[in-house]
Order: sequence, then structure tokens, then C-alpha cells
Amino acid sequence: MPEIETHERDSELFSPPSDVRGMTKLDRTAFKKTVSIPVLKVRKEVVSKLMRSLKRAALQRPGVKRVIEDPEDKESRLIMLDPYKMFTHDSFEEAELSVLEQLNVSPQISEYNLELTYENFKSEEILRAVLPEGQDVTSGFSRVGHIAHLNLRDHQLPFKHLIGQVMIDKNPGITSAVNKINNIDNTYRNFQMEVLSGEQNMMTKVRENNYTYEFDFSKVYWNPRLSTEHSRITELLKPGDVLFDVFAGVGPFAIPVAKKNCTVFANDLNPESHKWLLHNCKLNKVDQKVKVFNLDGKDFLQGPIKEELMQLLSLSKERKPSVHIVMNLPAKAIEFLSAFKSLLDEQPCSSELLPIVHCYSFSKDANPTEDVRQRAGAVLGISLEACSSVHLVRNVAPNKEMLCITFQIPAAVLYKNQTRNPGEQFLEN
Ligand SMILES: C[S@@+](CC[C@H](N)C(=O)[O-])C[C@H]1O[C@@H](n2cnc3c(N)ncnc32)[C@H](O)[C@@H]1O
Repeated sequence: MPEIETHERDSELFSPPSDVRGMTKLDRTAFKKTVSIPVLKVRKEVVSKLMRSLKRAALQRPGVKRVIEDPEDKESRLIMLDPYKMFTHDSFEEAELSVLEQLNVSPQISEYNLELTYENFKSEEILRAVLPEGQDVTSGFSRVGHIAHLNLRDHQLPFKHLIGQVMIDKNPGITSAVNKINNIDNTYRNFQMEVLSGEQNMMTKVRENNYTYEFDFSKVYWNPRLSTEHSRITELLKPGDVLFDVFAGVGPFAIPVAKKNCTVFANDLNPESHKWLLHNCKLNKVDQKVKVFNLDGKDFLQGPIKEELMQLLSLSKERKPSVHIVMNLPAKAIEFLSAFKSLLDEQPCSSELLPIVHCYSFSKDANPTEDVRQRAGAVLGISLEACSSVHLVRNVAPNKEMLCITFQIPAAVLYKNQTRNPGEQFLEN
């Protein structure tokens, strides 16, 4: 075999054949391609010793064996080398050359014709070769159990079925690929989705923070990007505390909090979410700790929450748990804060026992923290400037943040006929 003299290699070496460009129906056989790879011929008994020292120089490709039989000599093996690093014997580093010498292996590099197939290309290489040149091929997705949830751009849509199939082929455990059809603007916040490829079945099972959730992804809300937020809130509660989850979904706040030996009241308007919430409470063995409701958030606040608060806040001071109210419906939750105004009409409890609200919101404002504070305060008719904290949850889109404002509801808001405390600032209206 001749030693390779070339010092530069084709940067397209590991690109699929050029005639796959524009393919809309996946034809895996069209990805066959033969490439010339540098190889080192060695005696078969030194292969394993040598491989430890040739990690830098050896070829790394999905599904390609690094050591193959030598077609010309049964007693020898060929070690595939990285064509971008290895050109001639001069490409070996000192340490590598010294090991070769010790094992009596000639550093001469030769060429081998390697046949690459669809299996040997990475998903990004496949999509870069298929989609129009110069256009973004980003193929990121959210994983929800067995489902890859894509958010394709317009120029990718003609290739949507192919992209879906490539995601399934290249990601073990993914058996279905779906594309978001439009933004989540329906009441139940579930995605309108189209199955691009694979299983039609949207019944799935996910693990988040050590809990298991089962649900039909086409009918309920689930976002794998909220796991840190779910555990951040969970950590704020201590055993014995009480959680009211106004927009509970299938239970990612309610279930971990209940597991901490807290009492939980969890609500969702979507009958499907309510069904899976009940199911997941049983699945995670917290059904005795969670009371589940299927109400509009406002009715939940003015019905069950009001009743429970009346009891909880009248307990003797020593027995009073902390009460947290989670409102994760970022597009609308702030509007629901008005339900707290004059909700109770007894004598107010001591201020440290007042419920703590965690209310989510989106903001496109240049100062999202101030924007959320101002909007929440305006609904309650007070200033939250000095008595709230705002946590940045995640960046949802360019210039769109999701935030969580946390504050204790002032007695003057929660109780009827309250004169304002000297420390509480009210907004003029
Ligand atoms: C953004 S999701 C949050 C779900 C869950 N808390 C989580 O973190 O994954 C909002 C939930 O509020 C529910 N929802 C929407 N409008 C509602 C309303 N008016 N009253 C009660 N629940 C509502 C939706 O069905 C959805 O499950």
C-alpha cells in the first residue's frame, strides 16, 4: 500500500454524497460513500497495547470499527487513523513513535478504502447535506419520554418527515418525532402537534427529579425545561407545610412537595391534566397527601383555597404551617392575583403567617424584573417593590423571559375592611 503524501484533506471527507441534497423522503441507501482513510498496519498481538497509546491518532466515527482485519494478511490488523490529523509517519507525536518503536511497528501510513453508510454519519452531517446549502440545519429538540419534540423553522418544513426520521434513527430511545404547529396559546397550554415520523402514540412516561409522570403529551402541558424550577420551589417547603398549586398540570410541583410530607391542594382546568394528575399521585404513592381539583383557577382560589386558608390562618400560632401558593400559568397568572383581594373577612393573622405566592409571568420588557413587579403590584393595588423577590426562570425566546415573583400577600390585600399598615405602600388609582 502506498504511503499517503497529501498534507491537506478534503474538508467534505465525512459529508454524505452531494446527490442527497434536496432529498425529502429518506433513502438511507443514497448515503453510501467510499473514503480513503489512513491506516497503520500492525501485528495482531500488539493491537490492544498499541490502541492505548494511539487514542489521539485513531479515527472516531459513529459505527466505524477502529481496528479491522488486513485483507492482505491474516496475521495483521489495520488501525484506522484520523484523516484530519494523520498524513505521513511525521504526523505521529514523539510519545506515539516511541511506543511504536518499542512494539516494533513501522510508522508507515497507508491508505484504505472505507465504505461509509447512513449509519456512519451524524444527524447534523445528514441534515447539512440534505437541506439547502447555507441554511440553518439546527435539529435540537426537547425530549419527552419516547418523543422528540421539534420546533422547525419555515425553511425546514419541506424536509420535516426526513428530519423527524433522522432524529429517531440517531437518538436511541426516541421512537416518535413531532413538530410544534403553532405557539402554545390555547387554554390548556398543550401543543398543537404533528407527528412527523415514527409512533403516533403520544402516551408517554418521563422521569423528573426522581419522580415518574405518565400522560398523553398531545393533550396536556409538559415542559422538560422546568425541572430545575420544580425542584427550586419544592425545596422551599418544609414537612408539614401546605401547598396550593393553582395550575398544577400533571403534578411536577404537587407530587415532589407531597413526598416531603406536606399537604397539597392541586388544581387544573384541563380534564386530561386532572385525570393524569390523579393517576400520577397514585403512581408516586402520594394520593393520600394530595387533594385534586378540576376548576378554573379563580374558582379554586375563591372556593377551596379560601376555605382552607380560613381554617389554617385561624390555628394557634404554634401549629401554623407555612402556606405556599404556586401559580404557573405565565401568560395569564398575574391576572388571577386579583382573586386575593379581600378574599378573607376575619381578623388578620400575624403577618409572618400570611401565604407566600409564587406567581409566574413572561416578560418582553427591557427590564423584566421591574415589569413583572409593576404588573403584579398593579393588579393587587399595592407596590411590591420592597417586599418581593423575582427569579429569572428561563429565556423562552429572544427577548422573552419567564420569571417568578414571590411575595407574602399583605393582610391589607387579603382581608376585607383592612386599614393599611404604616409600612405598606399602596398605589394610587
Ligand atoms: C404552564 S402549565 C403548568 C403546569 C405545571 N404546573 C408545570 O409546571 O408543568 C399551566 C397549566 O394551567 C392549566 N390551566 C390553564 N388555564 C387554567 C385556568 N383558567 N384554571 C386552571 N388551570 C388552567 C393548563 O391546563 C396547564 O396544565
